[in-house]
Amino acid sequence: MKRVMIFSGAGLSAESGLKTFRDSGGLWEKYDIEEVCSARGFRADRDKVLKFYDERRAQLKYCEPNDAHKMIARVKEKYSENVVILTQNVDDLLERAGCADVIHLHGFLPEIYCEHCKKIEYIGYESIKARQHICKCGCKKFRHNIVMFGENAPFYARLYKELKVLQNAPNSMFVCIGTSGAVLDAGAFSQCAKISILNNFESSELDRHFSKCYIEKATTAAPKIEAEIDEFFS
Ligand code: APR
Repeated sequence: MKRVMIFSGAGLSAESGLKTFRDSGGLWEKYDIEEVCSARGFRADRDKVLKFYDERRAQLKYCEPNDAHKMIARVKEKYSENVVILTQNVDDLLERAGCADVIHLHGFLPEIYCEHCKKIEYIGYESIKARQHICKCGCKKFRHNIVMFGENAPFYARLYKELKVLQNAPNSMFVCIGTSGAVLDAGAFSQCAKISILNNFESSELDRHFSKCYIEKATTAAPKIEAEIDEFFS
């Protein structure tokens, strides 16, 4: 059985107009990561954090999937359960490119959840204030469905399970697109597969962990990566 994991980060959506985090001009240049992306920051200033995610949700409405999202959607369509798609991204561009079964490891921007009963609701690109209502459980406090620093990431269990599957597959490929590896150790993940392909815009210490690196934009690397995956499955 052949198995491919496609793991992605903010660089996958950069050409769709969504800022990455750590590149020059990235989100963390404009915002203090502690204030808007940590559980402590949320406790300290709830409105500031809710507004931060409202702004990112509103911006997402005007972004379009790029050729790299479309490539991943095509690969998933072609090879279905032999390919698993995990992303650190909270945008919906893979879904809008037609990709099925995307696993969002850090949450999903178009969703909020009730802080009491944790029920998830879809709000698309609306502001959370526009959707304030009373949950069926009687609570009226909702928050963004995003994993913040200092919070548990429930889908990491699925990530580690899928890495085990990759490790045990007789023939496996790990494809990593647009991540610095600053939060999840993509370099270590690459060791779980026989073949590993990295696509980033800049070279970094991650490169040495991979069998092949495409140091270029995701949209120009996409057709080359697709050809590698097609050949792997042929
Ligand atoms: N094409 C391909 N790669 C790109 C492009 C592009 N057009 N533009 C940027 N990149 C690459 C950069 O070279 C870098 O390696 O995307 C990566 C972006 O790195 P980060 O900004 O650190 O984003 P990411 O790795 O996704 O961050 C991981 O950190 O802040 C948290 O929860 C947040 O999920 C995020 C996690």
